Amino acid sequence: MSERPTLIPGERRLLHGGDYNPDQWLRYPEVIDEDFRLFPEAGCNAFSVAIFAWSTLEPLEGEYRFGELRSLLDRFAEAGHKAILATPSAARPAWLIRKDPTVARVTREGLREPMTGRHNHCWSSPTYREAVIRMNTRLAEEFAGHPAVGMWHISNELAGECFCPLCIAAYQDWLKAKYGTLEALNDAWWSGFWSRGIGDWSEIEPREGAMDGNRLDWSRFTTWQLCEWIKLEAGPLRAANPDIPITVNLMGVFGPVDYAEVCRHVDLVADDQYPRYSPEDDDLPAKGAELAFKDDLHRCFKPDRPWMLMESCPDSPNWRHPIRLKRPGMHRLEMMQALAHGAEGTLYFQWRKGRGGCEKLHGAVIDHSATENTRVFRDVAAWGRTLAGLGDLVGQPTEPAECAVIFDWESRWAFNGSSGLPNGDDPCLSQAVRWHRALRSLGLTVDVHHGDRDWSGLKLVVAPLLWMLRPGMAERMIRFVEEGGVLAMTPWSAQADEFNRIHFGGLPGGGLRSLFGIWNEETDSFPLRPGRFAEAVEGNPLGLSGRLESTGSVSILHLEGAEAAAVHRGDFFEGTPAVTVRGGAVWVGIEPDSAGIASLADALTRKAGIATQALPGGVSADRRGDFLFLLNFNGEPVEFTRDGQAFRLEPHASEVWRGEPGACRRLDL
Ligand code: GAL
Repeated sequence: MSERPTLIPGERRLLHGGDYNPDQWLRYPEVIDEDFRLFPEAGCNAFSVAIFAWSTLEPLEGEYRFGELRSLLDRFAEAGHKAILATPSAARPAWLIRKDPTVARVTREGLREPMTGRHNHCWSSPTYREAVIRMNTRLAEEFAGHPAVGMWHISNELAGECFCPLCIAAYQDWLKAKYGTLEALNDAWWSGFWSRGIGDWSEIEPREGAMDGNRLDWSRFTTWQLCEWIKLEAGPLRAANPDIPITVNLMGVFGPVDYAEVCRHVDLVADDQYPRYSPEDDDLPAKGAELAFKDDLHRCFKPDRPWMLMESCPDSPNWRHPIRLKRPGMHRLEMMQALAHGAEGTLYFQWRKGRGGCEKLHGAVIDHSATENTRVFRDVAAWGRTLAGLGDLVGQPTEPAECAVIFDWESRWAFNGSSGLPNGDDPCLSQAVRWHRALRSLGLTVDVHHGDRDWSGLKLVVAPLLWMLRPGMAERMIRFVEEGGVLAMTPWSAQADEFNRIHFGGLPGGGLRSLFGIWNEETDSFPLRPGRFAEAVEGNPLGLSGRLESTGSVSILHLEGAEAAAVHRGDFFEGTPAVTVRGGAVWVGIEPDSAGIASLADALTRKAGIATQALPGGVSADRRGDFLFLLNFNGEPVEFTRDGQAFRLEPHASEVWRGEPGACRRLDL
């Protein structure tokens, strides 16, 4: 078997470090010397550099100044550190906007932005594109062979939309290529509605608000535009040295960009995470579950390699008001969680607090008092020692999953973009998180996949609120069930097609009506209505018992070959099927509370033949090779048995054990 790739080729250490901005400190060279003294003290070995350095690297057009960056990289190489070298396109220099104001974006309201903040360049501007290609070509020529350069970091947190004439024309061209004819576009967008018929491609306006299909395609287009941007930036970098991996820093489950698509264009997955973990928070287990979901989502973008935290905060970000210091124990818990889910690097924003600028109060490894004798520095250094003690973890994958939850960006856009649905608080995300959490509480590794993923190796797939079925998805589901898999769907699933039009032929659509053996006549989205619940049917095939409280939408169903495992109580559809089973196809026609989801998760895993080991609430247990990560998000100690071995975890403990299941010993880290 070939060796699992590391984040940086040939680099077998866990990465630890952060965004390092010496460009802010060029007038204070002694500070940079001090940083080099402190890097090893903090156990740091990898640094993202030049992210916002454009005006330092090219202070005037065509005048490149790479000397300081070169000396920095030389010093890294000498000290054995790795650089994650960024392309500086996220924040443009003032000379560029002076030269051509159209490098800035046009807002939804049609206004060209002035200099303002960062991250607001027009994706189509020829001036900006040329300037970026020139800069990246020069950077690659200068540094693609430098021994310290281990990774490229393209721009920063790429996102956003531009409504300038060039971007709108690009949208029209993209649609032309996608649909071929206006006839096809008008049909897909249901343009007979409100007199929206399109007679010429130039009439297409992305801000037109009545056609759901237009809004959906604009979201797809903006993701496509962003991916094209990645390709544009990556071109010169790959040409100079194809062996250096390229990444972009993601923002968790960020709504507007389809990260599953973005990750197809980069070599490895890197995320920026800023959870609000606090030991005083009774909801810490729920916050932990949200991050666990995000971690598994990111892990599954590229399951054959590790991912990393590109940014996290050793203390508190300044954009949370008021700033509350990161409480003792929380740093280790947060970082350890990333490792448990397959990360091999934990980096920070930022290494050192600047004296000025709008992020001068953002948490950092080095505070303004500029000493290692601080609480935060000690926490970071302790984590650095822990990472050094976990060197053998490199190359160890997480345990293969037998079950997965589907989380699909396009479906989420379509659901959130359809008027009349209960979509105010991004329920596709929250439902997916709840199912993921329930399955993980059974002690399982749980994958998170988008709708087009191959499901081989899986026994159970839960597709909560999968509103959209694109071509091919239903066929894959049918095959999966035919081959013995268990598939569960929930209210509002399989209702719309790839254009966000409702499926013909009765719901669930796309061929799933016969797979599930039901007709979903209506769906009611009454939020938590007291007295409305589902009741298990005596001797039902899922082994459910008692009541399942229903907290939100319910499907009103007719059996067409399926069997009812539970029926609705307490509303006009009293006695109609609420949970149905036909072979491996299970329709969960309610949104149950946590206890209900837990009993359904239990029933579904049993049906799929997946062995489980339930964990106490708020506890996670994840294996990577012979490492076992145990985390307790509770403010109370917990005791439990796993693989026949007894464990006790103190409040908020984050422990690593090693050994065969049932015979592990705790590592003193
Ligand atoms: C990130 C960004 C960083 C920094 C950080 C502050 O979103 O990429 O440059 O601004 O937030 O938390």
